[in-house]
Amino acid sequence: MLRAVSRARSSSTVRFLAPLCFLLLCAGLLPAQVETRANDLLKQMTLDEKIAQLSQLPGFPVEEFKENSTESIDQIIARVGAGSVLWVSDPKEMNRLQHIAVEKSRLHIPIIFGLDVMHGYTTIFPSPIAGASSWDPQMIEEGQTVAAREARSAGITWTFAPMVDIARDARWGRMVEGAGEDPYLGAAMARAQVYGFQGRGLNDLSSPDHVLACVKHFAGYGAADGGRDYDSSYIPEELLWNLYLPPFKAALDAGVGSVMSAYMDLNDVPASGNRFLLQDVLRSTWKYPGFVVSDAVAIRSLIIHGYARDYPDATYDAFSVGLNMDMASGTYLKYLAAEVKSGRVTTQQIDDAVRPILEAKLRLGLFGHPYSDEARAAQILNAPKSRQLARRAVQRSVVLLRNQNNLLPLDKSSKALTSIAVIGPLADAPDDLLDMWGTLGKPGPAVTVLQGIRDKVGSSVRVEYAHGPNLRRFFRSPFEDIAMTPMKEQSEQTPADARKAIDDAVGVAQRNDLSILVLGEIDLMSGEYASRSSLRLSNGQQELLEAVAATGKPVVLVLVNGRPLDISWAAEHVPAILEAWYPGVEAGNGLADVLFGDANPAGHLPVSWPRNSGQLPLYYNHNLTQKPETDKDFLSRYWDLPSTPLYPFGYGLSYTTFSYDNLRLSSKQAKVAGKIDVTVDVTNTGERSGDAVVQLYIHQRAGSASRPVRQLKGFERVSLDPRSKRTVHFVLSKAELEFWSPAQKAWVVEPERFDVWVGGDSTATLHDEFQLTP
Ligand code: NOJ
Repeated sequence: MLRAVSRARSSSTVRFLAPLCFLLLCAGLLPAQVETRANDLLKQMTLDEKIAQLSQLPGFPVEEFKENSTESIDQIIARVGAGSVLWVSDPKEMNRLQHIAVEKSRLHIPIIFGLDVMHGYTTIFPSPIAGASSWDPQMIEEGQTVAAREARSAGITWTFAPMVDIARDARWGRMVEGAGEDPYLGAAMARAQVYGFQGRGLNDLSSPDHVLACVKHFAGYGAADGGRDYDSSYIPEELLWNLYLPPFKAALDAGVGSVMSAYMDLNDVPASGNRFLLQDVLRSTWKYPGFVVSDAVAIRSLIIHGYARDYPDATYDAFSVGLNMDMASGTYLKYLAAEVKSGRVTTQQIDDAVRPILEAKLRLGLFGHPYSDEARAAQILNAPKSRQLARRAVQRSVVLLRNQNNLLPLDKSSKALTSIAVIGPLADAPDDLLDMWGTLGKPGPAVTVLQGIRDKVGSSVRVEYAHGPNLRRFFRSPFEDIAMTPMKEQSEQTPADARKAIDDAVGVAQRNDLSILVLGEIDLMSGEYASRSSLRLSNGQQELLEAVAATGKPVVLVLVNGRPLDISWAAEHVPAILEAWYPGVEAGNGLADVLFGDANPAGHLPVSWPRNSGQLPLYYNHNLTQKPETDKDFLSRYWDLPSTPLYPFGYGLSYTTFSYDNLRLSSKQAKVAGKIDVTVDVTNTGERSGDAVVQLYIHQRAGSASRPVRQLKGFERVSLDPRSKRTVHFVLSKAELEFWSPAQKAWVVEPERFDVWVGGDSTATLHDEFQLTP
């Protein structure tokens, strides 16, 4: 830092002394001081310098950006500075660019480096959907603190996370990036992630443990028509407020410092030019004080949507609704000044847009510590303690879907288990365990499932491996061409080679006592650009599964994937099924801990698991219309398939069992402004220690709108020794009982009758009820 000061001084004149004062005074500032300093800077900035702060430059060549700028990003930074640079993950390169900003640009304003550090930078934790399966916000906060510390040590000061889009349609590839289908669980995970990334205190952002977070994608991206990525969303206002917006609000309440606008049209208006979202909701209703960044090249896309006529129009449409920063399209850089000159945009509006960006830089302490220290980073990246936490996160997030006759956990000292076949295209595929964003940083070595099993059983059990058929998409992913990530499909096979791979695997299964099949989706099959129409196990994996099961040897199916898959056959024929999602660098170790009983699984589904893609969208918190669910005709909702999921929202098994009893309400009646305490006794009725995920659901029986059959309104993950009991306590008050009423166009708590259920998933039967009075 001091070197940066002296260099900057030697190359500057007295008029630069004012900004340089920040070098001593940047961290730990009070809000008023931050504002004053931002205003001081604004007074010294030219229009072009301000617009540069509203621009995020791409760290690798982007066609859309090149349409608008012939300069290199080095030249732009030296000439006018830059608000931010994204997609650089190499610490040396970030320091190099930062030196240009701090030493060569006129006002020495440092750059914020942004990257999608979604669930780890070197220590890759389980994907967000897996994190949500843990129902453990405390652990998520700890994990994201590790992610923030690692990223910051390398020079990244801004992560484009948490992604909080509610997803009810498993065809949508980006379900993996969020917390699933429920707004209450989604809000809890959003909060935990913001706390993890940014810290909880006012000045935590300037600490080496934290980075600026960015809640995304605002809003409604998960409702894409047909689950097709980037497709339009049509969401009525009541569903927006009640379902899609609560996780965003939770992130804002937790102090998130930035918001990313979504790509798609929401109700025919692109989210990145949507006044209702960016002004009415975000600024007027929620009083959000931070800044909004577009998704990548989304401002340019306003033209593609058939919304903006041309670049100047797109510039105005985005800027005038409150979109502060242009990600990677160079549109503001080229066209915003003309909007000021023509008078469509005022200097005051420009200053108001720039101020929160400067404030974020001040809060981050960037003026004092613009560079990363590689020696320090070496101490932090891949630290053994972080890897231990990642392993714990795997143990806590896998979901045991089926365990017929207690096949799991496996006993490695049993005489009946002398050999194991580990089979499948994902059994020994390190990169595919990280998911797409996990590969974007600098991931440490990943322990594959095969390796984890080998390490666990040592020499006591023989382990034989077969790959099975290769996994490929029908259409290539554009991410294969991006040098930043190692994501690749498995190589192309002839049908004969694929058949042979299945036969070889069956041979291996026959020679061993038990098979562990690791099937699912390579990283390119879920995430962005990765929606699919069918949920079937692709590329011959279903045939492989059936052929291995036909050997008659016991089979354990481990799923590595980003969304629920069609496992209807497996759910009847395979005795044990574990959902691992993308577990991260400690995948193999954490999974082996669960498979062999050193950890007891307690993950629970954050989504309703469909029987097949024909049921989509599928969600537990639906309304019930026309016929009661108990009616014999209810089955006619489809004549070829039940309407119920294969596994319900909130579902997950354990190696022990739990009972829920003695549900007590503090009162059977309360005023709408009052509260009701709910308590329940949870007992571990088995012989192993384990965690129960205690879930509370409510239903409002009548009101100014039809209400969902059930809504999650409380949960707690509790650890219980064998035969021990805990009393768990919840509170139902305004926050849990209110909803946005389309009749009132407002949040209401209505004097109606409510049902309450508590149990281990969304089909819980332990029930009571209460009445709210005016
Ligand atoms: C596009 C994605 O939609 C968004 O989630 C991501 O943060 C940006 N690219 C930057 O990588």
